[in-house]
Amino acid sequence: MARVLIYFLISYLLNVVDSNCSEGCLPNFSCNPYDNKCYENPTPSTRPSVWLGEAPDKCDRTEKHCELFGLNYDSSHPKGDGEFCRNGTKVRCLVQENIDLETTPSNEFRYVTYNIFERDFAITYDGQRERSCRIIYWMIRNHPNIDAFSFQETFMGGCFSDDNLTLRDMLTYYGFEYYTQTIESDSQPSNGGIFIASRWPIAFNSSYVYTNYKPDSWDSFAAKGIVYAKVIKTVNQKAEIYHLGGTHLQSGKPKTYQSQQCKEIAEFFGNLSIPETEAVLIGGDFNLNQLLSNDTEETENLIKCMEYLNANIPVNTGPLNATTDPTTNDLLQILKPNKTKKNWIDYVLPSISFKKPIESSQTVLQPKASEKFPICLCERCIPLDDYIYPDDPECGRVVKISHLADHYPVLGKFVFQ
Ligand SMILES: *[C@@H]1O[C@H](CO)[C@@H](O)[C@H](O)[C@H]1NC(C)=O
Ligand SMILES: *[C@@H]1O[C@H](CO)[C@@H](O)[C@H](O)[C@H]1NC(C)=O
Ligand SMILES: *[C@@H]1O[C@H](CO)[C@@H](O)[C@H](O)[C@H]1NC(C)=O
Ligand SMILES: *[C@@H]1O[C@H](CO)[C@@H](O)[C@H](O)[C@H]1NC(C)=O
Ligand SMILES: *[C@@H]1O[C@H](CO)[C@@H](O)[C@H](O)[C@H]1NC(C)=O
Ligand SMILES: *[C@@H]1O[C@H](CO)[C@@H](O)[C@H](O)[C@H]1NC(C)=O
Ligand SMILES: *[C@@H]1O[C@H](CO)[C@@H](O)[C@H](O)[C@H]1NC(C)=O
Ligand SMILES: *[C@@H]1O[C@H](CO)[C@@H](O)[C@H](O)[C@H]1NC(C)=O
Ligand SMILES: *[C@@H]1O[C@H](CO)[C@@H](O)[C@H](O)[C@H]1NC(C)=O
Repeated sequence: MARVLIYFLISYLLNVVDSNCSEGCLPNFSCNPYDNKCYENPTPSTRPSVWLGEAPDKCDRTEKHCELFGLNYDSSHPKGDGEFCRNGTKVRCLVQENIDLETTPSNEFRYVTYNIFERDFAITYDGQRERSCRIIYWMIRNHPNIDAFSFQETFMGGCFSDDNLTLRDMLTYYGFEYYTQTIESDSQPSNGGIFIASRWPIAFNSSYVYTNYKPDSWDSFAAKGIVYAKVIKTVNQKAEIYHLGGTHLQSGKPKTYQSQQCKEIAEFFGNLSIPETEAVLIGGDFNLNQLLSNDTEETENLIKCMEYLNANIPVNTGPLNATTDPTTNDLLQILKPNKTKKNWIDYVLPSISFKKPIESSQTVLQPKASEKFPICLCERCIPLDDYIYPDDPECGRVVKISHLADHYPVLGKFVFQ
């Protein structure tokens, strides 16, 4: 009896029972059908995580594969969260450690708009996974007092969206546990890629898909529109209501579609019966460039759009003066090698039909990894519809980048009475 107990104890300490396990294993151990040994199941992870490797035969992932995504290697295991590997192990990668958030008074609001460039793998491979896995940590670590985000082009959900490690999982872990769904519609095959995430509870939400869009353009296949969240920021028992919009307007010309869509936004907010004493902030990719003074069509429609929304573009308080800039963004340099034109097309706007801020400003941010990371690049080659590792022999072209999207996000800071 004692020998049996010692045997189990030693086996338990070794985590592997060295015998034929087809008759069963101890609780929390599983039988590996390939070597007939019992293996202790992995302990649950303390942070959101993902297992890399696919049983039975693709189990050659290592620590460096976690680093590809800016994640922390945690452990190796022949089974991980699924079937046993025939040989080799899977690896578990954790999100970066938690961050202490900072809180500003309830009459201040910091709202970020970010087009994260996460188109479907069926369309393109341009580092969507490597880039989007890094975004939330970068944003919150560098700006721990952000109140809410408006994301665009989150078409798949970000990071390992098919494996339970999405942008929303990461947002929740870092304290942004309130978010809307991604806008979608029955009449468009693709979702609109737009959603809002907030540190503060969402009391009400809705969304609206634009009826004005350019027929036969890429955008006509996606449910582009406006997502709405009414959030309540409470600090030291003082509660302040913020009505947030998140949008992505038509891309390309003619620019009349963009101003028509702004008209729809104004009508949408007009329909919500929002009191004039509450703030409305709209963040998004407007595809209308404010850095032009000679393109009459685009400038005219930008002005029209601001008139519909009753918004003034807040001043730029940062060192950067463009939200897409091929001269500084290494991803854009690779994708559009001969372009140099800078654009400022992403905005966070207060609508002064509602509560007027006493201070408002915008700052362009530049999320990037401290070291370049490799991605498999295959733009518009309609390849396979699943992720390809840069070290996969199937990958035709590997490039190294550091920027996390083709756009830079804009941080809007607002102070109210
Ligand atoms: C394990 O036991 C099963 C039946 O109990 C037997 O069929 C199988 O051959 C054994 N495997 C090994 C490796 O001993
Ligand atoms: C098995 O693991 C779960 C989760 O770690 C734990 O709650 C449970 O107590 C374990 N059971 C045994 C018998 O060790
Ligand atoms: C595991 O075994 C399979 C089949 O024998 C082989 O193709 C594969 O390369 C092996 N994988 C590793 C990680 O050794
Ligand atoms: C994701 O999580 C859900 C619920 O926790 C689970 O049912 C599902 O199997 C998981 N999916 C994957 C791919 O791990
Ligand atoms: C709004 O919230 C409800 C649940 O409260 C949810 O069912 C709905 O999908 C949400 N809509 C959006 C656009 O997020
Ligand atoms: C606003 O409400 C009117 C009347 O109900 C409706 O016809 C219209 O479609 C709504 N517009 C938007 C943009 O929600
Ligand atoms: C507008 O100005 C930009 C730079 O300021 C210049 O590159 C471009 O050629 C001008 N376009 C027209 C139509 O004049
Ligand atoms: C943007 O800033 C750069 C560097 O500060 C400057 O060279 C450039 O002229 C600015 N461009 C515009 C359109 O203001
Ligand atoms: C960029 O310009 C170079 C030199 O003019 C040319 O050889 C190359 O084909 C161009 N690349 C693209 C993608 O247009």
